[in-house]
This record gives sequence, C-alpha cells and structure tokens, in this order.
Amino acid sequence: ASTLGAAAAGSGRYFGAALSTAHLGEAQYAATADAEFNQTTPENEMKWDTTEPSRGSFNFGPGDQIVSHAQAHNMIVRGHTLVWYQQLPSWVSSISDATTLKSVMDNHITSEMTHYKGKIYAWDVVNEAFADGSSQHRSSVFQNVLGNGFIEEAFRTARTADPAAKLCYNDYNIENWSDAKTQGVYNMVKDFKSRGVPIDCVGFQSHFSSSGPPSSFQTTLSNFAALGVDVQITELDIQQAPAQAYANTVQACLNVARCTGITVWGVTDKYSWRSGDTPLLFDGNYSKKAAYTSVLNAL
Ligand code: XIL
Repeated sequence: ASTLGAAAAGSGRYFGAALSTAHLGEAQYAATADAEFNQTTPENEMKWDTTEPSRGSFNFGPGDQIVSHAQAHNMIVRGHTLVWYQQLPSWVSSISDATTLKSVMDNHITSEMTHYKGKIYAWDVVNEAFADGSSQHRSSVFQNVLGNGFIEEAFRTARTADPAAKLCYNDYNIENWSDAKTQGVYNMVKDFKSRGVPIDCVGFQSHFSSSGPPSSFQTTLSNFAALGVDVQITELDIQQAPAQAYANTVQACLNVARCTGITVWGVTDKYSWRSGDTPLLFDGNYSKKAAYTSVLNAL
C-alpha cells in the first residue's frame, strides 16, 4: 500500500490524524490528510468549551464540519472528548453542588452523543482523570464534587446515550507498564470489567520524548487488551520525530491483536500543538519525513 490508511487497513486497522477546522480550508493540508488517513479525531472541536459554552446551549457546528469532512473522505471518527478538566468552561468548573454537577455532566454526555449518534466509532468518554506519578485520580471539579464514582457514572450514561459507540478511557503517561499511573488506570479497567461497568477501549495518547515509546509499551498494550478491551494509540507525536521511535511505536500496536488503530496528533509540523518541535510525519511544506517512510514500512 502507498498510504498510511491503506497500509493499516491491510491488517484491519486504521491510521488517522487529528484535524482542525482552522486548517481544513488550506488546500495542501486537506489534500495530505485526505490522501493518507482513514480516521480522524477533531483536535478541539468536540471539547466542552466549544460544544456547550453556556449551560444547555450547544454548538456542534465545528464538530459537524470535521464529521462531514471525514464522511466525504472515508475516515472514521473518534469523538474527543466528553469529560475532561481542561478546555472546560468556567460555568462548569465553578459548580459546587453534586446534584447539579451530576445532572450537568450527564446532560452534556447525552446531548453530545445523541447529536453524533451513528457517526462516531469510539468516544473518549473521560480524558486524563489520573494524576501524574500516582495511581489516584487527579484533582478536578468532577473528582472534587462527585468523588471517585464520576468516571463510572460517565461511562454508564454514555452507554445509554449511544449503545453502538465504543467507549474509551484516554490518558497520557500510561504507556510504561511499571508506572503508578499505568497501574491505576489498569486497576480501574479491571474493576469496571469485573463489575460490568461499560468500557470498551483504552486510548494511550503517546506524546513521546525523542527517546520514543518505553520498552514496555507492547507489554502495556497487551496487558490492557487481556482485560477484554481494545487499545488504541490516540495522540501520537514524538519529539523531533526519530524514524526508529515511530517504527517501534507502530510495531508495538501491530504485535497486539486488539490494538485497533493509531492516530497522530496533527498532519504537519507547522500546526503541531508542541510548538517549537517537529514531532509529526509531514514537515511544514507537507513533505514526507523519514518518520513517514519508517511508519509506512512498518505497517
Ligand atoms: C491539545 C490541542 O492539540 C491544542 O490545539 C489545544 O490548544 C490544547 O489541547 N491531550 C489531549 C488533547 O487529550 O486534547 C490535547 O490537545 C493534547 C493533550
């Protein structure tokens, strides 16, 4: 195969990129994305600050633009993200009453998932709920007002809203097996599975430094998969994009049957969220980098 998406499809997987409405009008950006990728994740367009900027007032315009572009170009869509402590409007983070916050959170999940019903392959229902260097949840309005049960509540609500969508937990720094944060998320998934709390997948963001994935990455993916969930690499970028580090990351996924796809966090270095870095597969002129070739050959 001669494109990333087609090569990944050869083993039943997808290869995608985060897309942003801000750049879709740029011909080379769209042409590169449309040629190479068979999956997309909206980089910001489905986050709470965009979709429900004030209580009960929804704005799905930007997310709809990504979805219609995806549908026109044969890309499946990961929905990102329903419950996250960042890019969260202050009207939510200032709620201190548990009954109100639970109803606000459930309504946000239900409204957004209902709007996109049938159009989303998998949702990042909860993003980044665990603290760095710890197996505990991080501080957030959801954690502080609703307690540990907020994640379970979010997943149960999500299953009811769109029973056909896969429901994922997504986080960073959970790629190294021995890290406390990895163990915390693993124990949560194990607990959810044992109690019948609906969860279908775990997303490993994979924002790596130039040293690339930890050597235990494949072990981590396969240990999570053994709990009965799919695993996905959801926001891949690697500082300075070393070709070998990219190939190793792709190989770790290919070696795990339940690793269903890989998403890079952007199309071109010039729009990467890691400003000052060049962590992606295409340079600022949309030329294929060495990392592109190593990924294509690995797939
Ligand atoms: C980033 C986007 O790339 C930026 O454009 C935005 O300003 C901040 O968020 N983890 C996530 C993503 O789950 O949503 C973040 O995306 C990167 C870190």
